[in-house]
Amino acid sequence: MNSCADDCPCAAMTTEKLTLHYGATAAFRDVSLEIPRCEITALIGPSGCGKTSFLSSLNRLTDLVPSCRVTGRITLGDLEVLAPDTNVVALRRRIGMIFQKPNPFAFSIAKNFALPLREHGVREHAEIEQRTEAALRDVGLWDEVRDRLRRSARTLSGGQQQRLCLARALALEPEVLLLDEPCSALDPISSAKVEDHLQSLKGRFTVVIVTHNLAQARRIADRVVFFWADESGGRVVESGPVDALFEDAIDPLTQAYVRGQHG
Ligand SMILES: Nc1ncnc2c1ncn2[C@@H]1O[C@H](COP(=O)(O)OP(=O)(O)OP(=O)(O)O)[C@@H](O)[C@H]1O
Ligand SMILES: [Mg+2]
Repeated sequence: MNSCADDCPCAAMTTEKLTLHYGATAAFRDVSLEIPRCEITALIGPSGCGKTSFLSSLNRLTDLVPSCRVTGRITLGDLEVLAPDTNVVALRRRIGMIFQKPNPFAFSIAKNFALPLREHGVREHAEIEQRTEAALRDVGLWDEVRDRLRRSARTLSGGQQQRLCLARALALEPEVLLLDEPCSALDPISSAKVEDHLQSLKGRFTVVIVTHNLAQARRIADRVVFFWADESGGRVVESGPVDALFEDAIDPLTQAYVRGQHG
């Protein structure tokens, strides 16, 4: 459960009646959720029910999709995320995102950190080096890469690349981390390593993770949100503390899904 210190800088998020359309088609409707600070919230549900769209709306990555329209309300602490005057660059520093497929920049490992840090105003070389090392240590990658920081990040294995992307997000000291199936492209050992590092970061960030791996959701999440889609688009069927949702779900759809009976 929530283990962060009172002065922990990370923030809670909420959504109220959040609805997202691509053109005339709703990807999801009327999603009202509380995402508690410093906890891990897992989004589960079958393919196409709007999990990625929901996640991407939280840091306004959906602004980049011309046909996409988001209505309702999202808050990050006191910030109205959807307000027209919200500074989206600053928002995305506060809310980092990791995708299913590792996406290191096609530069050296060191530059993967230096570029975003400089973009967000960190100019001192010593500080860039110190934050790079700290983030790589956080994901257990420092000893593996300390002698090859000038080599291309693309020379790393898939699992190492995903931990690099996690470290790159951590280096910006975000308050919220969004992870979209971060382990699904990885072999079981790399996947277990990423999962372990997420566990070890627990209590330092607010985490929202999409996973198709119910066992993983059960192991790492504090809260679980179950999405489902029908003719009118995706919706949240049920959400709650992880044990309640897996053992004591109220809705028959949730009960069947967590028992692996469909989806
Ligand atoms: N850029 C887009 N333009 C138009 N429709 C889209 C776009 N992205 C997603 N959709 C549609 O929105 C719906 C929700 O998609 P989304 O990718 O959010 O689902 P998901 O739950 O993440 O699925 P999966 O588990 O397969 O990743 C789907 O019907 C999808 O076809
Ligand atoms: Mg998805």
